[in-house]
Amino acid sequence: ALVTSKQMLLSAKKGNYAVGAFNAENMEMVQAIIAAAEEMHAPVIIQTTPSTVRYGGLELYLSNVKALAEKAGVPVALHLDHGSSFELCAQALRAGYTSIMIDGSQLPLEENIALTRRVVEMCAPAGVPVEGEIGRVGGKEDDTQSEESGYTIPSEAVRFEAETGLSSMAVGVGTAHGVYKTTPVLNTQLVAELAALLSVPLVLHGASGLSDSAVRECIRQGICKVNFATELRIAYSAGIKKVLSDRPDTFDPKVYGGLGRENVKNLVKDRITVCGCSGRA
Ligand code: 13P
Ligand code: ZN
Ligand code: NA
Repeated sequence: ALVTSKQMLLSAKKGNYAVGAFNAENMEMVQAIIAAAEEMHAPVIIQTTPSTVRYGGLELYLSNVKALAEKAGVPVALHLDHGSSFELCAQALRAGYTSIMIDGSQLPLEENIALTRRVVEMCAPAGVPVEGEIGRVGGKEDDTQSEESGYTIPSEAVRFEAETGLSSMAVGVGTAHGVYKTTPVLNTQLVAELAALLSVPLVLHGASGLSDSAVRECIRQGICKVNFATELRIAYSAGIKKVLSDRPDTFDPKVYGGLGRENVKNLVKDRITVCGCSGRA
């Protein structure tokens, strides 16, 4: 069923595991993610960034996810990832997204609080949970680019939670979007400190390229949602490249898209296992 991310993240917090959140760009990736979640009996979050929304449109992703979620035996949430403006969040809410992120992490704290709070107030009547971000995730995701990772300051996170009423919080603990050029310096002690101070579930961005043990340690210290994007894009494209290089005369999108889809499904199943989320639905 298509549900909000609220209960799945609260259950994850209680059970000390994380829900995998996977970025999808097209129908095949949506199919792959939901099929993987079903095989693993896991709740799952599918998410689209602003550039993905520009590519396919909110309604198209909503209808793809909804059609499959309604038949799925596991809870599925559709989340706006790194929502870049109040207006885009409003559009996603209106389209039927069941989970929304407003990313004000580049703003001064006061402005981040004010913007996040406005989005929370807009989404509350519909019962749609809002993820905010404080501290910086490094690397490039869509339109946001940070040279280095910024570590969340615990006192700021406490204020951010109290003054926005958000449902989950993306925190900066040393991860970066994309694949890592140098080994990331994760502060898992900071994860533990934040988890002790805050009551909302914590979100880890930038998981592509992290070792399984690093992801597991972050979850052990209190992360409840882990975002995977770049790895899925790589897996999908690798499938397509393989078919087209093995058989350059292929022209049926179902043939190369099919292998891309298979690759994404296998990757997502693996990541669900790392998150400790299999069997939780
Ligand atoms: P990666 O691309 O490093 O997996 O980051 C994913 C992410 O944080 C999406 O919001
Ligand atoms: Zn992210
Ligand atoms: Na990454």
